[in-house]
Amino acid sequence: MDLSGNLARHELVNCLKGEGPDRNLFDAADTVLRKRVGPTVYLRGLVEISNKCRKNCFYCGLRKDNNSISRYTIPFEEIVDCLESGYSKGLRSFLLQSGELLGKRHIELIERVLKWSMSNLPDVKMVLSVGELRFEEYDRLLHAGAHRYLLRIEASSPELYSKYHPPDEIHSYQARLKNLEYLRNSGWQTGTGVLIGLPGQTEEDLADDLLFMRDMDIDMIGMGPYIENRKTPLWERMNELPSTDDRILLTLRMIALSRLLMPRVNIAATTALQTVSSDGLERGLLAGANVVMPNLTPPAYRENYNLYHGKAFVGDTFEEIIENLNRRSRSIERIVDISNPGDPLHFSDRMQVQQEESNEKQ
Ligand code: 5AD
Ligand code: SF4
Repeated sequence: MDLSGNLARHELVNCLKGEGPDRNLFDAADTVLRKRVGPTVYLRGLVEISNKCRKNCFYCGLRKDNNSISRYTIPFEEIVDCLESGYSKGLRSFLLQSGELLGKRHIELIERVLKWSMSNLPDVKMVLSVGELRFEEYDRLLHAGAHRYLLRIEASSPELYSKYHPPDEIHSYQARLKNLEYLRNSGWQTGTGVLIGLPGQTEEDLADDLLFMRDMDIDMIGMGPYIENRKTPLWERMNELPSTDDRILLTLRMIALSRLLMPRVNIAATTALQTVSSDGLERGLLAGANVVMPNLTPPAYRENYNLYHGKAFVGDTFEEIIENLNRRSRSIERIVDISNPGDPLHFSDRMQVQQEESNEKQ
């Protein structure tokens, strides 16, 4: 099989089923990575600012109806302390993540943190992953200093999406899609992604997810294996799950195929992948990922940000985490550039095309 960027759907399916040697797939992705984006690994310091959520996704431990976790929102001062401390150690990109909340106070908190960062942390790129908001709120947050937004489509097929979400208005697939399109068209560096290895999901579904992300022209990808959580409705479908090893392999194949189909996007080696595989970091990077998100959330809050069981925890102090990342990246001939904000090259390509198109129209 020709592992160039023009893979057809049936070829994607074959790769996802492991019908060709994985070595060839990962090597092809590595070659494309080195040629098209380079060997650098970029970091985003992750702060999980709140674990409150208005939604009830069937797979997620933060779902509203899970009352077995204590809910928190980190106060402004503590959030900026985390950012300042990461900044002083060299980080230049931060990800603020939370469940989905539409309250005024939540947006105001995020806006305040962004404005503070703009004034106090020169040259940082702020990333948001706080769910679906109102369109004017995206504009407001962009204006307040954010640059990137991650909104996973979770499952790009509307049918499959409806199996993992309650059938009501706030879990509408169409709304999610519209939000993603809005973000992509309004100046945000835009990321999306899917869950991999959900009960009932097929390789064909995943191939369609890849084509969806390519056709959406997105700039960043964050996707990882689905990890079961006893406190969620999907726990009941445990017996339909692929084995952990299969979910790991599927994730690595998805990363490699993403790199082949979308050479210039940023792809994360996610915490979920690192949770299910002790060498998930190395394997993710070797399959074509180029972003890692070290967790800066203060430990007291972190233990309540449980999307799933057994979230990976590497090292205690920030220094240990970075040292660990450096050593492990070097061992596979990759270099962590801690102070590089790491814009997705795909975004500048996309902006250039947009510019050329608008010039042509004039
Ligand atoms: N396993 C893996 N990832 C999960 N997420 C939510 N629940 C799980 C789970 N059980 C992911 C979703 C969401 C992100 C914040 O975490 O994709 O977008
Ligand atoms: Fe909330 Fe996101 Fe979890 Fe859904 S996946 S319940 S929106 S935190």
